[in-house]
Amino acid sequence: MVKIPPNILKLLEELAPRALCIFATASRNGKPNAVPIVFAWPLNNEEIIIADNFFNKTRLNIEENPQAALSFWNPETREGYQIKGKVELHISGPLFEEVTSRVRSAKPNLKPKACVLLKAEEVYSVKPGPEAGKKVV
Ligand SMILES: Cc1cc2nc3c(=O)[nH]c(=O)nc-3n(C[C@H](O)[C@H](O)[C@H](O)COP(=O)(O)O)c2cc1C
Repeated sequence: MVKIPPNILKLLEELAPRALCIFATASRNGKPNAVPIVFAWPLNNEEIIIADNFFNKTRLNIEENPQAALSFWNPETREGYQIKGKVELHISGPLFEEVTSRVRSAKPNLKPKACVLLKAEEVYSVKPGPEAGKKVV
């Protein structure tokens, strides 16, 4: 795992759960699937937690291929990042409880099915311009 820089953690913390992120997974054979999500938060400086409220193909992909990527950005400044790594599914236990409590405090009627834990391995900038795609860590 890599350490996600504090400014990037802060950006995601401030966006969640209001701004859109894009969560990408792939099937065992590499067929890609990207979905919009809003419920993603930093858990610590290496891991992100994501609420599986409605995942379908995404969930199937995670069960057969742990490789995933999350992109998010500030729509006003266009500062944005892509975090790639492996994901783990938690359908009970402390991380499931943590995600459920965070989702419920924003939307009491939602019932998460799982917590997806993304372990950061690479971080890139997605901000448009000369630095787009540059590896951060
Ligand atoms: C604005 C928006 C926000 C969404 N946020 C979430 C989310 O935080 N968690 C979730 O499980 N699904 C969320 N969804 C639903 C997924 O985008 C998607 O519909 C679902 O994963 C089924 O697609 P799939 O079969 O490709 O997984 C959101 C959809 C939209 C349009």
